[in-house]
Amino acid sequence: MAKPIVITGASSGIGYELAKVCASHHHDLVLIARREEPLLELKAELEAAHGILVWTYRGDLTDPNTRQQFFDWTQFKGVAPYALVNNAGFGDLTTFAESDWEKQNAMLQLNIVALTHLSRLYLPGMVARGQGRILNVASTAAFLPGPYMAVYYASKAYVLSLTHAIATELEGTGVTATTLCPGPTKSEFQERAEATDVKVLNSKNLPTSADVAAYAYEAMEKGQRTAVHGTTNKVLSLATRLLPRKNLAEVAKGLQKPA
Ligand SMILES: NC(=O)c1ccc[n+]([C@@H]2O[C@H](COP(=O)([O-])OP(=O)(O)OC[C@H]3O[C@@H](n4cnc5c(N)ncnc54)[C@H](OP(=O)(O)O)[C@@H]3O)[C@@H](O)[C@H]2O)c1
Repeated sequence: MAKPIVITGASSGIGYELAKVCASHHHDLVLIARREEPLLELKAELEAAHGILVWTYRGDLTDPNTRQQFFDWTQFKGVAPYALVNNAGFGDLTTFAESDWEKQNAMLQLNIVALTHLSRLYLPGMVARGQGRILNVASTAAFLPGPYMAVYYASKAYVLSLTHAIATELEGTGVTATTLCPGPTKSEFQERAEATDVKVLNSKNLPTSADVAAYAYEAMEKGQRTAVHGTTNKVLSLATRLLPRKNLAEVAKGLQKPA
């Protein structure tokens, strides 16, 4: 098996494009999402184009049993992942007071708990093998409070903090942990977040998921701690260190106010 990579949320957007990038670097792949059809189409395309092996798994990662079953299934298949890419995630444009609790809870389960659980399941094997990569997909939202997407922004701040702490614990083990922080990117994210009216998330000039995926793979391979995609996002993320949180929240509020 050629340095297999597990990718969550590989049925669209950044995860789908990351699968293509990893395949082009001759990694075998294990792909999971709830929609099986795009995964099967991708499997056929990548196996034919690169002569790699691709396994697909249909599952909802908000469910703890699914996560354990998925891990057990990869163990049963003899997959010893070189890398785990925790990419699956979603947002929701709403005021916190009016938000749908079921949706916020699912977001917390996916963006935070599933990412933490899968990291905890796969990391010991990587450490024992003395080689591995964790790539956790956060967002530039990790750097500031985000009115109208409060839970989403807070979930990404958690991902940034957790991944940095793990990366520090992993020093000297041969395993690295990288936090990817894309800014607004073309994908299905905006539609799922019911944020297609928010200008900053829907500009015609947004980078594509393929742009972000190519950058993410390089950052993961280098073992970079934090990987902010794009020069403007890099500058803005540095600026968030200088401004008070109150001001940052006002800026995000202005940018994201629902139409
Ligand atoms: N696009 C942006 O502007 C942007 C910016 C910064 C960060 N991000 C982050 O990038 C990551 C990827 O998002 P994207 O932009 O590529 O959006 P996307 O096109 O909506 O992709 C999300 C992926 O997550 C999967 N997913 C959603 N719920 C799931 C569940 N319960 N169980 C398993 N898989 C699930 C989806 O597949 P199924 O629906 O088939 O399950 C899909 O493959 C997310 O963590 C997002 O927060 C995106």
